[in-house]
Amino acid sequence: MKAVEIKDSIYWVGAVDWNVRDFHGYETPRGTTYNNYLLMDDDITLVDTVKYDFSEETVKNISGVVEPSRIKNIVINHIENDHVTSLDRIMKLSPGAVIYITEKGRKGLGRFFDISKWKMNVVKTGDTLSIGKRTFLFIETPMLHWPDSMMTYVREEKLLFSQDGFGQHIASSVRFDDEYIACKSTYELDDAVLDYYANILMPFGQIIKGKISEIQRLGLDIDMIAPDHGIIWRNDPGRVLQKYLDMADGKADLSVAIIYDTMWRSTEMMTAPILQGIKDEGVGCRLIKLRTTHMSAAIKEFWKSRGCLVGSPTLNNLLFPTVAEFLTHLRGLRPKNRIMGAFGSYGWGGGAVKEAYEEFGKMGLEAFGPGIQALYKPSADDEKACYDFGREFAKKVKEFHKKF
Ligand code: FEO
Repeated sequence: MKAVEIKDSIYWVGAVDWNVRDFHGYETPRGTTYNNYLLMDDDITLVDTVKYDFSEETVKNISGVVEPSRIKNIVINHIENDHVTSLDRIMKLSPGAVIYITEKGRKGLGRFFDISKWKMNVVKTGDTLSIGKRTFLFIETPMLHWPDSMMTYVREEKLLFSQDGFGQHIASSVRFDDEYIACKSTYELDDAVLDYYANILMPFGQIIKGKISEIQRLGLDIDMIAPDHGIIWRNDPGRVLQKYLDMADGKADLSVAIIYDTMWRSTEMMTAPILQGIKDEGVGCRLIKLRTTHMSAAIKEFWKSRGCLVGSPTLNNLLFPTVAEFLTHLRGLRPKNRIMGAFGSYGWGGGAVKEAYEEFGKMGLEAFGPGIQALYKPSADDEKACYDFGREFAKKVKEFHKKF
């Protein structure tokens, strides 16, 4: 795609990755973009680069606006591979450019490239850079979501370059939120925001709240947020800021995600009466089978719901491997403000349900225990007990939900 002018003489010069479906293990059914931006001013400035595979595309887009050798400054907001691995290609074309980066970014960049010949200017929160008609303000955002991360604000344009923050994995022929909503839907855009937050930013909710407060304290007026992935927020950037605050506060639906796997369908048979019990308590419920659902889709469903029931057969006295993998992955995301329970079938010794509750304990999540188990194949009595368990769990979820 050609460069797109996002504001007067400010251009998107990134690349659309229509075909990526596995983004370092995270499922991206909508593809993604690697966004970077070119500001035509007295000192021509590039904000961020793109993934190596798309180097030629960004160079072509830049060249469509200006000869790359005229670039004076390159701001690197984040050094993860999808944003920085074409930097050496750009530096070959703009050898005189000065790189603006955080100290942690500078150190990290040295692991990717020989930076000894590059001019680097280390910046920290509050530092500014005048490029002519415009002034940049740098805001460090450590652990949002890497230690090096920062955002760059252009006061005259009320424009925030937010790197991964407020991004979404969406490949599209349009660049802006209003355009995307017009050709898809608000739901589709919101779902992509939630998916991205759940799988990438969930551990950093409190840092996100703190950074948004800092932006408010600094009195930054924002009328456009330009992230490094997906759609640019120009119609209502306040909406995505509020969505982030809500998610950081643990906002969820009054619903339950039943996330399970099964060997000989016994654990699966338990899900139907449990779901019925939850439904009869007036609480929504979704069933997610791990062997047929990608991990990142399961994580998103977990994050949408206030309650989660984990179902696992016992295998060799432990959790079924797919369920163990899900819980390990979830623990890394440091979830909060969710209530958990577990169920499962077993043949002789059992162990999966107990291990699931141990995992909930490690995550510090509230749990409704001790869960429910069925021997070999659920009997009519077991199914009744599952129904009651579902109802009781739904009551707990409703009670718990009132806290938020
Ligand atoms: Fe899109 Fe943290 O990289």
